[in-house]
Amino acid sequence: MASPFEILGVDPDADEADIVDAYRERVKETHPDQGGSAEAFQAVQDAYERIENGYEPGDEPRHPPTGPAPGPTATEADPEPDPDPPEPEGVEVQYLNYEIIADEGWALDDDDLFEKAADGGFDPEDYGRFHVAENESLLEAAESEGYAWPFACRGGACTNCAVAVVEGEMPSPQSHILPQELHDKGIRLSCIVAPETDAKIVYNVKHIPEVHDLLLPASRFEQASSSTD
Ligand code: FES
Repeated sequence: MASPFEILGVDPDADEADIVDAYRERVKETHPDQGGSAEAFQAVQDAYERIENGYEPGDEPRHPPTGPAPGPTATEADPEPDPDPPEPEGVEVQYLNYEIIADEGWALDDDDLFEKAADGGFDPEDYGRFHVAENESLLEAAESEGYAWPFACRGGACTNCAVAVVEGEMPSPQSHILPQELHDKGIRLSCIVAPETDAKIVYNVKHIPEVHDLLLPASRFEQASSSTD
């Protein structure tokens, strides 16, 4: 059975940065929307989580890649419940995929946008909540949850990662490429911002015409990155 390191394609003695890079790559490769499978995507998420939790050889994955899981032993069947689970760190972000708004015929400024989303029964990739920890960008927090949100430059230059802030405080750093008018409308670049309060955001808004006009193709950054390897 593959170890979490084998699933991510990194050496067991890889450092944190290499593990995160490998995780991001594998998330992109295995995401169902990118031609991967739900099983492989889940296995990558589990592998990363297990490494972060201090993987020891011999651990069993929570979601084996093939076949039914073996039955629990007597001791495994009744684990001691955690009497006091830790509170998640950071602020809470409620997110919605812009594709859902387009598919449903909704609008970004609908007053009940997130109420409708909560009642819609959408996949976790499209609607849900997660926490953004201190010193983490919104994009990094989404990726930590295993979501493959759009990005390219990771430096506030291309707008592929644009989100719309519907509620909450999310200031931009001094340097960004958004015109003031778009910034005033709540558009932010998820690779360089972090929420200061609980927030509601719509991601994947690069298809909004005013944002799309600023878009630099992701292929430009892939070429730049490979030419410096
Ligand atoms: S990924 Fe390019 S602006 Fe965020």
